[in-house]
Amino acid sequence: MKSPFPARLSDASFSGRLHDARTATVIGRLLGAAVAVCFVTGLISHVWQHPPAFLANALPSRPAWGYRVSQGLHVACGIAAVPLLLAKLWTVYPRLFARPVVRSARHALERLSVAVLVASALFELLSGLLNTAQWYPWPFSFVPVHYAVGWLLVGAMVLHLAVKAPEIAAHWRRRSAGTLSLPDEDATDRRSLLRALGAAVGAVTVTTVGQSFTPLGRLDLLAPRHPGHGPQGLPVNRTAARAGVDAQAVRDWRLRIEGPRPYELTLRELRALPQHEVTLPIACVEGWSKAARWTGVRVRDLLDRAGAPPGARIRITSLERHGAYRVSEMAHTYARDPLTLLALRLNGEVLSFDHGFPARVIAPNRPGVLQTKWVGRLEVL
Ligand code: HEM
Repeated sequence: MKSPFPARLSDASFSGRLHDARTATVIGRLLGAAVAVCFVTGLISHVWQHPPAFLANALPSRPAWGYRVSQGLHVACGIAAVPLLLAKLWTVYPRLFARPVVRSARHALERLSVAVLVASALFELLSGLLNTAQWYPWPFSFVPVHYAVGWLLVGAMVLHLAVKAPEIAAHWRRRSAGTLSLPDEDATDRRSLLRALGAAVGAVTVTTVGQSFTPLGRLDLLAPRHPGHGPQGLPVNRTAARAGVDAQAVRDWRLRIEGPRPYELTLRELRALPQHEVTLPIACVEGWSKAARWTGVRVRDLLDRAGAPPGARIRITSLERHGAYRVSEMAHTYARDPLTLLALRLNGEVLSFDHGFPARVIAPNRPGVLQTKWVGRLEVL
């Protein structure tokens, strides 16, 4: 079959306009900003889920909405970056067919870095998007690979910015020094392209951001989750059935608290303790979040009764049989926060099985996967 590309390609082979440095810079600025927000918020999410030793007992539990906003931004900017990346690649793709393929060792390295940049950008956006749908059609674990490739992407982007710095500086503004006196014949076409791109970014944002920004929940047509759908008006990521928790597992349930003065409580005894009500969101790593009203016992009250020292971290163990988050740890900053509850009720009703009956953790500024459900044991560390 005849190749669609001529054997030798030159700039003239690409008759379309706007494959130029000014367009690459304008779109690059937006894409760079989206990647930067994703990187910073991705780091925050990583540290909150896997804190390094020096932060393990010091992560702040406030602001209560911190993780919700950070992860909502991460997913929203990642989704907005999809049309931006496609437009950017369309603008620069003639460069990818430039001949000769390699001119020198330096040029070879430069091309290699561009290959890493494009591959890592495509990988991050695609894997992130599939993760929001909880679809993992690959043999590796999503979290560590998405995290490592994020560093690769940012490293390759910084290198790219350094290599292209002269062109970027010359085209940063419409009338940058190098182009001051040149008429820009493509300005009108470029404006149309950018308007279309703005409309595409606006459309994908408005139809997905409602999954975390609930005032726009009614427009949430494309996100895999709607924050209002689920038992007791709140979505569920991991059902009791998937976690291997059934009626048998909670039949003679007792909460065990390990500490200097260990003790056990039945559900009836737990209900008889002072109950508190808080409004806090479940903020999922996959981007959706929703605030709800929770009622239960303050974790710090349970710890005081066990004689826990004020600076102690705690370990929380779920009744679930399998799962990477069956056991989680909590810094003293969280355990001592008056908003942190062992919740027994959700929006005024007894917790449903899928929301963690008989008791679950709810704490401010904490990723949803660490709001442990079906709690069986609290240990003072
Ligand atoms: C995920 C981020 C990015 C990706 C995947 C990307 C991809 C590319 C690719 C594949 C090329 C052509 C490679 C070549 O010339 O050898 C290119 C060129 C270029 N990029 Fe980027 N880029 C990104 C971010 C940026 C940013 C943040 C800026 C500026 C703010 C930028 C400005 C430019 C410029 C000025 C060119 C040269 C265009 C020309 O010579 O016509 N890029 N980019």
